[in-house]
Amino acid sequence: MLNKKNTIILTVIIVLTLFSASLLADGKALYNSSGCGTCHGATGLGDGPAAAALNPKPRSFESGEFVYDTDGDGVKGSDADLLNVMKNGSAKYGGSPTMPGRADIPEEDLKAIIAYIRTLQK
Ligand code: HEC
Repeated sequence: MLNKKNTIILTVIIVLTLFSASLLADGKALYNSSGCGTCHGATGLGDGPAAAALNPKPRSFESGEFVYDTDGDGVKGSDADLLNVMKNGSAKYGGSPTMPGRADIPEEDLKAIIAYIRTLQK
């Protein structure tokens, strides 16, 4: 039988599961509506229609390898690093101006996109 404590725990688990599922759904929709796929590809392989003309190539999110340590903590590609690159563009961190800064996208939405990008890693 479910006592009160277990009912509360179960409710919390269900709410958190629904919340993370909706974050991922939002992230995918936002990735698509923000034009990331033009360069990074519809499925994040770095093979979008514009990729052929770009050097360096847009990152493939399948590898999960990232280049910039934007906050100087010695770790590349942390959530904070990806957020900075997406917000400010990679030129600010010594990279290519072809990775555009999207400070126009709300930070919560950028975080949802990061959560989605993480799921593309194989
Ligand atoms: C016009 C093409 C273009 C578009 C649009 C674009 N990117 Fe990029 N992106 C690039 C290129 C090129 C690089 C590699 C830049 C470099 O090495 O300096 C890159 C790199 C990245 C990186 C890797 C940073 C690292 O530390 O390695 C992330 C994350 C990223 N892009 C996310 C996004 C997201 C999310 C969007 C959509 C909001 C987006 N990009 C839109 C071209 C693009």
